[in-house]
Amino acid sequence: MKKDFISIQDFTPQELQSMLDLAIRLKKEHQSGGNVPLLKGKVLGMIFQKPSLRTRVSFDMAMRHLGGDALYLSPNEIGLGQRESVADVARVLAGYVEVIMARVFAHEHVLELAKWSSVPVINGLSDYDHPCQAMADALTILEKFGSLKGLNVTFIGDGNNVALSLMHIVTKLGGNFTHSGPQGYDIKPAAVELGKKFAAESGAQVRFTRDPHAAVKGAQVIYTDTWTSMGQEAEAKEREKVFPPYQVNAALVAEADPDVIVLHCLPAHRGHEITDEVADGPHSALFPQAHNRLHAQKAILARVLGVA
Ligand code: CP
Ligand code: NVA
Repeated sequence: MKKDFISIQDFTPQELQSMLDLAIRLKKEHQSGGNVPLLKGKVLGMIFQKPSLRTRVSFDMAMRHLGGDALYLSPNEIGLGQRESVADVARVLAGYVEVIMARVFAHEHVLELAKWSSVPVINGLSDYDHPCQAMADALTILEKFGSLKGLNVTFIGDGNNVALSLMHIVTKLGGNFTHSGPQGYDIKPAAVELGKKFAAESGAQVRFTRDPHAAVKGAQVIYTDTWTSMGQEAEAKEREKVFPPYQVNAALVAEADPDVIVLHCLPAHRGHEITDEVADGPHSALFPQAHNRLHAQKAILARVLGVA
C-alpha cells in the first residue's frame, strides 16, 4: 500500500523516532560530502497554494542531493479545486511524478489528493497542521537535548497549525507540552484530546495556561510563530490587539530553564511575536532549525518512497 505523510498523529512514536534517526544519518552523510543517490530518477511534484521559502527550497534541494528532481507548481498554474478538481489534479499529476508535496489552504484538499493519488502525498502545510515542520523541530530538539523524554516544550502564541503538529510530536516522543495564548486562539479541541492521549501513552503531560510567565517556567524549549497565519490576513489588526502579552522577548526567556532554546518555524515578524534580541540571541536555534527542514524531509521522502 502507498505511504503518505499527512499528519504526525498518523504515525507511532517508533515510526517517528526511526524517521528522525534516518534524518540524523542523512544529515551526517550530507555534511561529510557523502550524499547517497537514494532518490535517483525520482521526481517530486510540489503544489503550492501559498508562498514559501523554506518548504520550497528545502524539498527541492533534498531531491537534488539524493539524485532526484523537483517541479515547482505555483498557485497560478494548477488552481487546485478551482481550475480543476482536486481528484483530477491528483490522478493526472500522479502519472507524471513519483511523489507529490502539497501546501494547501483547506486540510481536506491534502486528504483528497492523498485519496486520489496513486503516488505518495506529503503535507507541506495546511490550515490544520504542518508535520514536516514538526519533524525538523523534533530533530533540532534531539540534537540539543538527546531525547524528548521529560523535556518541557512551551508554545507561546496562536494555537495554529504549527502548534498542533508540535504538540503531537512532542507528546508522542515523551515530552511535556504547554500552550499559552489568548482566549479564542486555542489549539483545536479534538487535536488537544489526541495530544492528551499521546501524552498519556508516553508518560508525558499537556498543559494550558493564559499566563505566559507560568508557561515558560522550567521550559527547555520555547516556541513561537506568527500571530496571523497565511489565509488569516483579514484578522491581522484584531490579532495584533490581543497577542502582545504573548511576545517572546528577553525578559520572558530569562524566566525559563537557563539552557532553554528558542524555536520559530519562520518567517518571523520581529517586534511582534519575537524580538530581535531573542531571535539573534544566545538561546536562538532558529537557523539550525530552518536548515533541519532539509534533513528531516529527506527522511520523509525516503520513507514514503520506501527506499530507506
Ligand atoms: N516554516 C515554513 O514552512 O516556511 P515557508 O513558509 O517559508 O515554507
Ligand atoms: N502558521 C504559519 C506557518 C508558516 C510556515 C502559517 O500557516 O502561515
